[in-house]
Amino acid sequence: MNDMIYMDNAATSWPKPECVQDAVLHYLRDVGANPGRSGHRLANEGERIRFGAREAIAELVGMRDPTRVIFALNGTTAINLAIAGLLAPGDHAVATGMEHNAVMRPLRAAVQRGVSIGLARCRPDGSMDAAAVEALLEENTRLIVANHASNVCGTVLPIREIGELARERGIPLLVDAAQTLGCWPLDLESDRIDLLAFSGHKGLLGPGGTGGLVLGEGFDHSVLPPLVRGGTGSWSEREEQPDFLPDRYEAGTPNGSGLAGLGAAVRYVQERGVEVIRERERGLTQRLIDGLLAIPGARVQGTLQAERQTAVVSFTLEGRSASEIAFALDEEHGVLCRPGLHCAPRAHRTLGTAPEGTARLSPGPFTAEEEVDAAVAAVRALAESP
Ligand code: ALA
Repeated sequence: MNDMIYMDNAATSWPKPECVQDAVLHYLRDVGANPGRSGHRLANEGERIRFGAREAIAELVGMRDPTRVIFALNGTTAINLAIAGLLAPGDHAVATGMEHNAVMRPLRAAVQRGVSIGLARCRPDGSMDAAAVEALLEENTRLIVANHASNVCGTVLPIREIGELARERGIPLLVDAAQTLGCWPLDLESDRIDLLAFSGHKGLLGPGGTGGLVLGEGFDHSVLPPLVRGGTGSWSEREEQPDFLPDRYEAGTPNGSGLAGLGAAVRYVQERGVEVIRERERGLTQRLIDGLLAIPGARVQGTLQAERQTAVVSFTLEGRSASEIAFALDEEHGVLCRPGLHCAPRAHRTLGTAPEGTARLSPGPFTAEEEVDAAVAAVRALAESP
């Protein structure tokens, strides 16, 4: 076992598979050119690699058309694109009591523009029923937004049921899958998702600076204006943004090396198998929850049932602040975690852990059982120390 135990995969996964490192290096060293521009051999190779990443994501979420995968800087940019574009003054939107600020801040900005919002009630373990969303729907509800799993406690929301009721009413459903894509099976059609915002560097194991928005086959993109306009390498004779996919939403030089890494990462995840990764993480998560629950003074958030959550475990220790816990775990035991509010004050309010926050341990696909046990032992030592 290493001297250091990385338990911050909910912030970004690490380590990255070797094939991802190789793909990034190959792009930087041997390709380098600007994908979709110039038409020379290196630019064409760059475009081939970028398109390969698009195809890999499309396949992962059960989509036939890779051009409906829009790349962005991260999941947050993708969420901003959807919320800013779909909500106009006078519209109403529904989200949940477990959202991250990636959703809450664009929604608050929409409220400033005259949009009204409702937040579906979640239980103190972060769970909810689709009926809580249904109860808030109004005549003018134009968007439903829900995270798939909480970045604070991992609780998974019933997105398929929410999707069913959204579809019955013709309201688009935007799912924030930052914490699930790559480590929880997702299929746009059977999960009834119209817009899926994803992060490339968490469960997908790709490099930072990658993410995007997948547009469901039934979603009419003419209703969604771009967030950023500019050069795309297409329609260059015109000063208007292209109206076709994916160029409508991808202005400016893309993150070529990042997307090369992302493509390799998604193929790695597919080869290993999302179900297999999920099952392994389920086991680690239950081991972590049970280990922490046995520590006097420790309080663990969420449903405490690994089958209902991702590999994200938040806890508090009586008499110690979250940052004190994280600092001591790092300094004294080499266990790296994230303390505080995790950019999700709304979720912490629902859990009853605001404003102090929690310490969050998040194992990943490369975490060993022994590392989970060592992290638990470190928390126990801390709890027992004066
Ligand atoms: N949203 C990321 C986290 O939960 C950064 O840590």
